[in-house]
Order: sequence, then structure tokens, then C-alpha cells
Amino acid sequence: MRVLVTGGCGYIGSHMVRCLLHAGHDVTIVDDLSAGFADTVPAGVHLAPFDVRDPRVRELLVDREIDSVLHFASRIQVGESMRDPRLYFRDNLAAGITLLEHVLSAGVRRFVLSSTAAVYGYPQYTPIDEAHPTLPINPYGESKLALERVLASYATAYGLSYAALRYFNAAGAWTDEGLGERHDPETHLLPLLIDAALGKRAPMTVFGTDYDTPDGTCVRDYVHVRDLSDAHVAALVYLADGGESGAFNLGTGQGHSVREAIACVERVTGKTVPVSYGERRAGDPPVLVASAARAARVLGWRPSRASLTEIVSDACAWLARQ
Ligand code: UFG
Repeated sequence: MRVLVTGGCGYIGSHMVRCLLHAGHDVTIVDDLSAGFADTVPAGVHLAPFDVRDPRVRELLVDREIDSVLHFASRIQVGESMRDPRLYFRDNLAAGITLLEHVLSAGVRRFVLSSTAAVYGYPQYTPIDEAHPTLPINPYGESKLALERVLASYATAYGLSYAALRYFNAAGAWTDEGLGERHDPETHLLPLLIDAALGKRAPMTVFGTDYDTPDGTCVRDYVHVRDLSDAHVAALVYLADGGESGAFNLGTGQGHSVREAIACVERVTGKTVPVSYGERRAGDPPVLVASAARAARVLGWRPSRASLTEIVSDACAWLARQ
């Protein structure tokens, strides 16, 4: 396939680009480099360094005969979305709609959206499947859910085929390819823990120890970024085969608490993680664990790097080199 990857210089997008190349697809990247890194672009891959709203995106789709778009470019910080929601409705929702204008007018028929577990809001049951009510509790989740709804309407009206892939907690790295997590600022648990263990950061603060969970800390479903990439390839193949559009959870189905994550990082690094214990972070649900049964059944996707130890080991190998 001939695939355009927006945000292809970001954390998940850069892994996606390598995964597509390994699977034999032709790749073009659109990334304005506001959060991504041009040094992740493999030799021979065309990088168009502009925003997804840029009219040149339409020309690119036509000129390069793109048949599928994978849309990663977006803002990703829940806290920032609470403080400054217009960034999220403008850069995730409105920009996504403009990108879809380019997609439709260029005649591209397949679209995969990088979506999030944040579309569900507070879990009403666990593990969360796609039938769970979607009641986001922050503008980040709202912006992604709204774009999913736009896609559903466009699928019905214009025959666009789409998959909205709802990631749980993306983590890990692809060290052989020189890829890993680079966020500024970094807010995610595993890189903060690993960097603290390696002495590269201040002690990490555990946000809350009084949750209704087995050890009092929040439980999350960490899924390897390479498994996420594999799921996108499976989704592309599924859509190309005429599969029905829709949303799919991507997670391992295994939950790990913050304390378990700390113990895992200590085992893998052989070092003690300096931590302090603080208040709960606003908006953190106690438990977020996916049922990815639908992705398994429909896409034939199962995570093959599902152990937390493997995810942490890969992330450590990458962060130790930075
Ligand atoms: N945590 C800490 N201390 C920190 C950072 C995180 O204790 O310094 C805890 C959080 O409270 C949470 C867990 O570690 O319980 C994981 O936090 P992350 O910030 O790594 O990830 P989130 O679960 O908050 O967010 C992830 C994605 C979002 C997505 C969300 C779905 O990063 O994009 O899942 O709710 F929206």
C-alpha cells in the first residue's frame, strides 16, 4: 500500500513508519516537527515538513498516489487539555476535519485514526470493551471522540473506510531502529521512572496511594509501541479487504499498578527508583484495562510483546542511550 503517516516523526508515528517499511509498504510522512524529530526519518522516506491543514497535503496525496492515511499528528497531554482546551479542539478536532477534506477530495478511501482510551472517561466496568459508554472527562478525550464521530458520518455518507484505534498506555521502544519515547515535557510514568532510576531525573512522584486498587496505586494497561504499530498494519489490511469501519481497543488486557511498575523498573535496571508519594492527579481513573478481544477477533491482532518486563526492558535500553 501507499501510506501517508501524519505525525510520522513522533513517538508512535516513527515506530509506525519503520513497521510499514518492514511490511513492504511505501511511506510518506507529514510532520510539522513541532513535537517530532526529523532524525527519525529513515533514508529514502519523503518527509513533508508541514501541518496537516496545509493545502499541500492534498497535492501530496494525489502526486504520491496515496491510498491510505494513518493520522497520528495530535496533541496528547490530558492536563494541558484541561488548562487550554482550544488547543485540542483546534489542533486535534478542527485540524483532523481539514485533513479529511484533503483526504476526500484526493479520493483516498482508507483512514486510520490514532485514538485513545480517554474517550471512555471513568470506567464503569473493567476490562473496558468498545461497548463501554464513551463519556470523556477531559478535552483531549473529547477531541478524539468528536473526530471519531466525524469519521463515522463520513463513512456512511462518503464511503470512507476507517478504523479508530483506541490505545491504552503506549510504552516501550525499538532500540535496534534507534527509536524510543522522546516527549518534552515527559509526563508518562515509565520513562519518568526509568530516568529517575538512571539518575537522569529528579525522584518521581507517585500520584496517590489511596485508590481502591490492590496496592492503593493506579492500575494501567501498558502496551508496546511496536504492537500498536502492528495493529495499524492489521487494520489497513482489514480495511483494504473490505472490512467494516469502527473502533478497536488496543491493550494487553493486563493491568499493572504504579508500585508494580516501580518494582519492574528496579528489577530491570538493578537500581532503586527514588520516589516520593504525593496527592492524586486530577482526572486519573483508578483502573484502566482494555478488553482487546474485538481487535483479536476482527483484525487478528494480539500483542506479542505483552509482558511489562519486555516493555520496560526495551524502554530502558533506549533511555540509557540518550
Ligand atoms: N503517574 C504517577 N506519577 C507520574 C506520572 C504518572 O504516579 O509522575 C501515574 C498516573 O497517576 C497514572 C499512571 O502513572 O496512574 C500512568 O500515567 P501516565 O501519565 O503515564 O498515563 P495516563 O494513564 O495518564 O495516560 C494515558 C495516555 C493518555 C491517555 C490516557 C487514557 O498517555 O494519552 O492514558 O486515559 F489519554
